[in-house]
Amino acid sequence: MAASLVTVGTRALVVAETESPVSRSSTTESLIAAVDAHSAHNYHPLPVVVATADGAWMTDVEGRRYLDLLAGYSALNFGHGNRRIVDAAKAQLERVTLTSRAFHHDRFAAFCEQLAELCGMEMVLPMNTGAEAVETAVKTARKWGYRVKGVPAEMAKIVVAGNNFHGRTTTIISFSTDPEARADYGPYTPGFEIVPYGDLTAMREALTENTVAVLLEPIQGEAGVLVPPAGYLPAVRELTRERNVLFVADEIQSGLGRTGRTFACEHEGVVPDAYVLGKALGGGVVPVSAVVSSAEVLGVFRPGEHGSTFGGNPLACAVALEVIAMLRTGEFQERSAELGAHLHRELALLAGTGRVTAVRGRGLWAGVDIGRAFGTGREVSEKLMDRGVLVKDTQGATIRIAPPLVIGKEDLDWGLAQLRGVLGV
Ligand SMILES: Cc1ncc(COP(=O)(O)O)c(C=O)c1O
Repeated sequence: MAASLVTVGTRALVVAETESPVSRSSTTESLIAAVDAHSAHNYHPLPVVVATADGAWMTDVEGRRYLDLLAGYSALNFGHGNRRIVDAAKAQLERVTLTSRAFHHDRFAAFCEQLAELCGMEMVLPMNTGAEAVETAVKTARKWGYRVKGVPAEMAKIVVAGNNFHGRTTTIISFSTDPEARADYGPYTPGFEIVPYGDLTAMREALTENTVAVLLEPIQGEAGVLVPPAGYLPAVRELTRERNVLFVADEIQSGLGRTGRTFACEHEGVVPDAYVLGKALGGGVVPVSAVVSSAEVLGVFRPGEHGSTFGGNPLACAVALEVIAMLRTGEFQERSAELGAHLHRELALLAGTGRVTAVRGRGLWAGVDIGRAFGTGREVSEKLMDRGVLVKDTQGATIRIAPPLVIGKEDLDWGLAQLRGVLGV
């Protein structure tokens, strides 16, 4: 087999040239053609077919290696194939994987106790996907509103922000402002009030005696990594406390180390009434999500009123317990803060070059707006892919940089050099 040695980042790798080491049927083109024929077209992935991954690197079916600067939309904060997480999952696979909540299992107590402790809260309600946890937060807030706050039946309102992204269920897209996410899914669920993100006056005016919760992303990820104006989150915290309204922070993407702290709310000294968590909680191995809150709030549920067959299963708990143990050391948050400061210093040099019009974010998380004249986010993502770097565009003109927190500084620098190469700066 003829092969060439190609250097990508700090790594040398072998790329097959003539006789492919994989059969014809598993080439990138044929696999993508099969996906096009048999999978619903609800995504538009970059044309790369990943076969294996390790740390911050992925390898495609033809042996090409790519630096992962997306990290599964922050579900892979601890990297691909993280040894500790994989070992915890393997050990649990051999013991017991599912009981349903019809019975207790021996990992559940530790999971609830330790996750609540990590969050500085008292109780946990586990689910699987992020959207399920947001749905759970909506149900929790409404039930709290009726049973604790005393809101008249069917009158509960939840205030959300424009440009939010909280998931894809019918109720959640009912309070989305993204036409693509909403179109043709009506009738929509009522009971939500949308205010501009970062606008405190609008928030103040939207709250009524029937408002049960304000649901916010402390940094809006899908909107382009939008950081709210300084002081906004603390002011919302104060306002919600004064008005007896729950402050629910959707930290599904921003939480668990991504921004350099365990929670993005911490940057502003804010403690919400409930965290909604997902993505990285499952270590990139299994879907694990949860609402974490006080006993007053999560105490509203009685048996039979909410649930999930897989929520809080033994495998999920074992993986999440390892994630929690890793976060408790603080080393991932520290790494994200340090490397993130480096990332933002480097990206700041690009801002104002015309090729990049703005850069936002915190920690190892950045939204980079590409100048209109230069091309779309998608085009830049495709050019980066050709150079061995995987990112994903959002909102047309933005690319998101969110590598696994375990990425090496040299690899990150190499990725940034590719971005400069694509931008020609
Ligand atoms: C802030 C936020 N909330 C909720 C979700 C939905 O999570 P899932 O895709 O696991 O349902 C996402 C996913 O991107 C998110 O970023």
